[in-house]
Formats: sequence, C-alpha cells, structure tokens
Amino acid sequence: MDNQKHLFSLDPDIHYLNCGYKGPLLKSAEQAAIRALVRERNPASIVPEDFFSGAREVKVRFAELVNCDPMQVALIPSSSYGFATALGNISCDPGQHAIVLEDEFPSGYFSLKTWCDKNHAALKIVGPDKGGATQGESWNKNILDSITSETAVVLMSSVHWMNGLKFDLESIGQKCKTVGAIFIVDGTQSTGAAEMDVKRFKIDALVCAGYKWLFGPYGLGISYFGHAFDGGEPLEESWLNRTNSQDFGNLTKYDHEYTEDSGRYNVGEMSNFILLPMLNEALKQINEWTVHGIENYCQQLTAPLYEYLRKREVEVEEEKYLSHHLFALKLPGDIDADHLKKNLEANRISVSNRGEQLRVSVNVFNTEKDIEKLIQVLESSRLK
Ligand SMILES: Cc1ncc(COP(=O)(O)O)c(C=O)c1O
Repeated sequence: MDNQKHLFSLDPDIHYLNCGYKGPLLKSAEQAAIRALVRERNPASIVPEDFFSGAREVKVRFAELVNCDPMQVALIPSSSYGFATALGNISCDPGQHAIVLEDEFPSGYFSLKTWCDKNHAALKIVGPDKGGATQGESWNKNILDSITSETAVVLMSSVHWMNGLKFDLESIGQKCKTVGAIFIVDGTQSTGAAEMDVKRFKIDALVCAGYKWLFGPYGLGISYFGHAFDGGEPLEESWLNRTNSQDFGNLTKYDHEYTEDSGRYNVGEMSNFILLPMLNEALKQINEWTVHGIENYCQQLTAPLYEYLRKREVEVEEEKYLSHHLFALKLPGDIDADHLKKNLEANRISVSNRGEQLRVSVNVFNTEKDIEKLIQVLESSRLK
C-alpha cells in the first residue's frame, strides 16, 4: 500500500507519530459529520428507520474487521462502559480470582478492581520477569501460568498500551477456555491496525474505544459480546434495546424483552446521528485498506528506525512480540532526555510520554520523512 496521507487533513508541518493518542480524522469522516450536522437543521428528514440503520451499518463493518456476527456487536460510549457491561454479567465462586496485566490502562484496571471488591475475589496482577533484556517471552508465559481453574476472568489489553508489546491472545484465549475463565480483551490499541479475530483468539468480550486505530470520533466505542453474554443484563434500560422499539406508535405497550442479540448492551441514544456516520466511514476505509495492508505498511515504514536502534546497540523486543504500529523507544544510552524532549518539540514531532518511555505510533498517514526526522532528532540529541 502507498502512503494514504492525502485522505487526511493533517498539518503538513507536523510529524504526527501519535495515533495511539488519538487517530486523525479522515476527510471522508469529516464530510459525513458535516452532512449529518446540516441534517440536524431539519429533523423532519430523520425518519424512524434512521434510529436503527446507522448502527446496523457500523456493526456490519466492525463485525467484518473482528470476524464475528454483527448481531454480537454493541455500541458503547467508552471502554469503561464496555468493561462494566461485561463484568456486570460475570459471577464468581468463593476462592476464585481475576487477572489483569501489570500497568494495564486505568479503565480496565479499575473496572476489574471494583468487580473483585464486590465479589470478594483476589486480583492477580501479572507482569514480566524483572531484569530481563526483553519482556515478551516471560510476560506471556507468566500470564499463561497464572490462569488456573480458580480464574474467573482475565481482562487484558491486546497489546500493551504503553509500549505495544504483543500478547499471544490465541494461547491465552485457549487457556481461558480450558479452565472455564471469561476472556475480556481491551482492543483499543490494536484493533484496526493489527489482526483481531475474536473466534481464533476465543475472546468472550472485545472492548474498543473508537478514537485511535479505528479513526472514529471521541465518544463512540464499539464492543463484541460473545455467547457467554447471551441473555445478560445491560447497564441501563434504553427504549431502543427492546424488541418492539421500531414500532414508534406503540412504545408504551411496554415490551419487557430486550433484543435477543448483543444489541441489548447498546448505550442509550445509540443512534447518534453525527458520531455514527463518522465511525462508519472510518471502518469502511479500514476494511478497504485491510488490516494486513496497514500492518505491512507500518512494518516497512518503521524498519529504518529499528535498523538505526540496533546499530546503536539498543535492546529491541523479539520480533514476534513487537507491534508494527505502536512501540516504546528504549533510548540509546548517550541520549539526553531533556535535550531530546526539546528537540522533538522544536522539530514538531508528536509522540507520547507514557511511564518512563517515549511511545511512538504510526499509521498509513505517516511517511518515510516522519521516520527520517525522528532518527535525525535522536541522533542530534546525543551527548557530545
Ligand atoms: C488500552 C486503552 N484502553 C482504553 C482507552 C480509553 O479508555 P476510555 O474509553 O475508557 O476513555 C485507552 C486510551 O488511551 C487505552 O490506551
């Protein structure tokens, strides 16, 4: 795939290596938002079917991306909403525990901590072995070893949000199935940029904020709820999630049945007439590019950076645990961190500081020039 910068409206003077912070808006999504906004001038043009059709389309596109049935997709406003929905439907026997990653994103960590407190369950925090040059091998092994017949639920990110470290979701999902644990994955930092297959990875619930790798607007996320959540309780009682909701004339013939599918977990006002068309355009574009195409693009783009780091004898994670779209730079020993920070700003390079690390994230709008500039800045930040 060639560079796709022309489909975005990024400031040409900025090197935006920060899709893990927020994805830029596609021009097509911007146009969809403008059309939707103008439509709000005359609500008579919004017909009852419009309360459902936008959501249906988005669900079909997301289902294609993660390999599930569109009926198992629900719209959420944030990842924390998705976690609360899933965890609210998980029971726990005495003596069972839950598992979370070390330094997990706070929305996931707090959701699981609260569930543990309510259920008097222990929370096991699993990290890599300390002191190793790389983390992938030991971290994955430690996760697998910690899942036992006493595990009620594992909640973890698909790749570590601070450094993109890839987890072996297929083996972890299989282990969860073997012991009967529920597997909840926060796909926010990889879905759209790396393979996500809920069937192959045996994921029970996949929760994604939409505003990063899905190029969606802030405030609209999306989730998959597998059969473990069939017939469950939603967080709230939206009229839209009842089986008779399309019959606007008879809404007060109160229907106590929720829709059969995961649509019962949709957030209230899921028909959001402005945000849904934006996410729809973005998912359409991602499916056209294909995740495989995006991954390959990012891999080729970042190859010179890794070559540079290896030349400078910087420890790089083993290939199989590296994400191509998101990674933390371990800096060459002779780089002055303050000098580097100033240099990044002066050269208008946008990256994120997460923990002690410099998080770089790339996507199809980035060019070779962005990576060349980053290498130049690293080189010029060396202590003389
Ligand atoms: C792994 C991960 N999950 C979730 C989020 C966003 O969470 P929320 O939708 O609850 O604001 C982020 C934001 O950086 C993230 O990195």
